[in-house]
Amino acid sequence: MAFIRSLQLSHFRCYDSVRLEGLSAGLVVLTGPNGAGKTNVLEAVSLLSPGRGLRGAKISEMQQRETGQPWALAAEAETPYGLVRLGTGLDTGSLTEKRIVRINGETAKTQTALAEYLACVWLTPQMDRLFLDGSSARRKFLDRLIFAFDPGHAGRVTRYENAMSQRSKILRDSEYPDPVWLDGLETQMAETGVAIAAARQDFIVLLQQACDQAADEALFPRALLALRGTIEELLQQAPALEVEDMFRYQLRDSRKVDARSGGAATGPHKGDLLVVYAAKSMPADQCSTGEQKALLIGITLAHSRLMAAERGAPPILLLDEVAAHLDEGRRAALYGILQGLGGQVWMTGTDAHLFAAVGSQGRFFHVEKSHLLLCDKPVAA
Ligand SMILES: Nc1ncnc2c1ncn2[C@@H]1O[C@H](COP(=O)(O)OP(=O)(O)O)[C@@H](O)[C@H]1O
Ligand SMILES: [Mg+2]
Repeated sequence: MAFIRSLQLSHFRCYDSVRLEGLSAGLVVLTGPNGAGKTNVLEAVSLLSPGRGLRGAKISEMQQRETGQPWALAAEAETPYGLVRLGTGLDTGSLTEKRIVRINGETAKTQTALAEYLACVWLTPQMDRLFLDGSSARRKFLDRLIFAFDPGHAGRVTRYENAMSQRSKILRDSEYPDPVWLDGLETQMAETGVAIAAARQDFIVLLQQACDQAADEALFPRALLALRGTIEELLQQAPALEVEDMFRYQLRDSRKVDARSGGAATGPHKGDLLVVYAAKSMPADQCSTGEQKALLIGITLAHSRLMAAERGAPPILLLDEVAAHLDEGRRAALYGILQGLGGQVWMTGTDAHLFAAVGSQGRFFHVEKSHLLLCDKPVAA
C-alpha cells in the first residue's frame, strides 16, 4: 500500500509554510471557500510523482510570490519499500528552470525515480472537457494511467519527446542537417515510439477488462475504450520490428514537411483515446456533461481496481471538486467504493455537506486564506 503520512509545503503557491500530519490510507477531505488553497495542496501531492503535476504548470509558477525563499515540498510516504522521505522543489543550483527530487535525502538523477514509490492519478475540473477538446489531453490522461501501472512508461515518453524535439530543432535551424545525427534521432524515435504504442495497446486491454468488471453500471457507466494512432494500428498488422522500420522510413521521408510544420507528421504523439458510453453506444463527446464526468470517474475507479489487483496497491487519487458533480446517492456510493479500494484519496469541495457521508474514517481539513486546520468532521465554509 502506498500513501502519504505527512506533507510539508514551503513557499509553495499561496502557502508560506504548512504541514499536514498523521495521514493514513482512506479519504483526506479539504473543504473551504474558493481561492482558499485546496487545489494547491492537491497539486503539491501530485508533484510527488514524475511530471509537471496536476495543473501541468511551469516550475516558476509554483513559487510563492513575493518571497526570497525557493519553494519546497517534503513528504513521508508509506511505500512497498517501507517509510520513504520524498522531497522536491526548485533547483536553485541550476541555470535552467528545474525541479530537484530527493529520496531519503539523496538527490535523484531524474524525476522518474519517484514513480518507483508513489503513483498519482487525478481528476480536475479542467478535465471536464477531456472528451471535447483535442487529443493531447486524452493522450496525457491515458499515459498518466500507464505511468502509474508501469513506471518504465514515463522514461519511454520522455526519451521519445526529447529525440523528437532535438530532431525538430535540427530540421528548423540548419539548412544542411547532418544525416547521421538525424538518422540516430529517428532510430531513437522509432524504437521508443513503437514501445509507447505497444505499452498503450497492452494496457488498454487490461483497463477494458477492469471496466467490464464494474460492480454497478448504473452508478458509473461502463466505458468502451479504443486507441487511435498510425503506429498503434500498424502494430495490429505487423511485428514490432517491422513497424519500427516502417516508422523510421516514414520519418526520413517526412523531413522536409516536418521542417516546415514542426514536430513529426505521424507517431505516438498523435495517438488518441476513444471512449464510448457502452450502454448507449454513444461516443463520450456526445454525452451530457454529467455523463462524461461519470464515465471519467468510472475509468479512474477501474484503473484503481486494476492497480490493486496487478500491483498490490491502488494509486493515490486526487479528486478535485468531483463530489459537487454527483447527486447524493452517487456521492455516498463513491465514498464507499473509494474506502473499499483501500488507497489514499484526496478530495476537495467548497461545502461541508458534500462530505457528510464520508463518516468518521475520513481526515478533514478546513482550508481558509492559505491556512489548514485539522477538524474531526467537515466544517462549513
Ligand atoms: N505562485 C503563487 N503565489 C502566491 N499565491 C498563489 C500562487 N499561485 C496561486 N496562488 C493563489 O492561490 C490561491 C488558492 O488557489 P487554489 O488552491 O486554486 O484555491 P481553491 O481552494 O479554490 O482550490 C489563489 O487565490 C491564487 O491566487
Ligand atoms: Mg480548486
